[in-house]
Amino acid sequence: MLSKISRPLLALVATPVVAALLVGASQGGGATPGSATAGDPYFPASGNGGYHVVHYGLDLGYTPETKQLQGAADLTVTPTQRLGSFYLDFSGMTVDSVRVDGRRAEFSRSGTELKVTPQRSLDRGRKVHVVVTYSGVPENVVDPDGSADGWIIQPDGSVFVANEPQGAMTWFPSNSHPKDKSTYDVAITVPNGWTAVSNGRLRDQRSHYGKTTFSWRESQPMAAYLSTASIGKFQTEQYVTAGGLPVYNAVAPSQAAEAGPVLAQLPAVIDWESRLFGRYPFDAAGSIVADAPDVGYALETQTRPIYDRAPDIGTLVHETAHQWFGDSVTLTKWQDIWLNEGFATYAEWLWSAEHGGLTTAQQFAADYALPATDSLWSFPAGDPGDGGHIFAKPPYERGAMVLEKLRQTVGDRAFFTILRTWASENRHGHGTSAEFIALSKKISHKNLDALFTTWLYGKGKPATP
Ligand code: TRP
Ligand code: ZN
Repeated sequence: MLSKISRPLLALVATPVVAALLVGASQGGGATPGSATAGDPYFPASGNGGYHVVHYGLDLGYTPETKQLQGAADLTVTPTQRLGSFYLDFSGMTVDSVRVDGRRAEFSRSGTELKVTPQRSLDRGRKVHVVVTYSGVPENVVDPDGSADGWIIQPDGSVFVANEPQGAMTWFPSNSHPKDKSTYDVAITVPNGWTAVSNGRLRDQRSHYGKTTFSWRESQPMAAYLSTASIGKFQTEQYVTAGGLPVYNAVAPSQAAEAGPVLAQLPAVIDWESRLFGRYPFDAAGSIVADAPDVGYALETQTRPIYDRAPDIGTLVHETAHQWFGDSVTLTKWQDIWLNEGFATYAEWLWSAEHGGLTTAQQFAADYALPATDSLWSFPAGDPGDGGHIFAKPPYERGAMVLEKLRQTVGDRAFFTILRTWASENRHGHGTSAEFIALSKKISHKNLDALFTTWLYGKGKPATP
């Protein structure tokens, strides 16, 4: 069947453009291939075009002894164009089969792309189930800055799973760009004695023939980079806060003594941040504390941040603030990483100011006092330049300086209204730097162009603080 658009074109003479359209049409009724990229220059392989993933249903089995992972990923997909074929991000592993609405689909692999060609093209807007079965020993990716992310196996077989920015593709096929957010059901089966922890609420835990299946549900939209399925011989703790929020903590025994008093403050930190930033965005909370010091970082995995070791309170405050800034309000391009890291760092500043440390103005002044040669000034917070610099000092520290500068310019009342409005207007969605600037101007009734030009996008150390 021909679409309304392609019908008149078929009558045209065979110019190169028409020929190209005809090639597309030969896939069946105007169907075209989905793009193999989300178009983000920082991570060009991340994400794909032509569809939205509404929901991921992941059924995983992991054997710590052999490090083998078996997976069945059931993706509920809404095509945003008529699709003859489409791409998923997936690296390593062996793909055993791909089915689209139950019918075997052709697939091929190249680099980190899994190309799927269904027997029939997919209608725009009509949901399908794409089921991929796979197995193997996952291999983490190494980011341009040299850090590891994805499925990171520890020597004892436990697994630290942190996907920012591109690690999701190491353990399930996905549309791995933060532009696409989805709900998740993740079931992980491990040998008895091991615990598997994912995002959201634990719906079920049952043991059978020496294995235990942990079934988790994240019912709010989540970017793939914020998902986890971390596995270890954890000590676990579950409780419900006074505010009714279920908390699930999983802690490596070696870290338990040090982590305990810090994790105990999570409900207080959530309450404190809720007063500053507005209602907590999710229906679950908790922490995963691993013993994986080689990883070298923590990550704000949605509802349940993961730490490579016992966190200090500043780190807990930082990862918890990301639940508003990054997880609920998500960037659309990695260039905007300061919207995550600057805000989470500013939350740390606010915490220290209220707990006997430096005031935010003093933090700003201390940073400003750093010499022009310091790496703080090496590039603008709002323009890291490439994917190798998103976790360097400027998006964090200069990002927080942008917010302090904004606060000093518009006053406390307007400033916190901006933060709360940012979080509420974009709750469970996305936000860009341009939108944040526009909102700041609208709420403060001030022209803030010079502020953002200098402090967010200016190169080098500004001449005056
Ligand atoms: N986003 C994390 C945080 O600030 C840090 C992080 C995630 C990171 N992945 C990384 C830092 C890779 C360095 C390298 O909480
Ligand atoms: Zn952070």
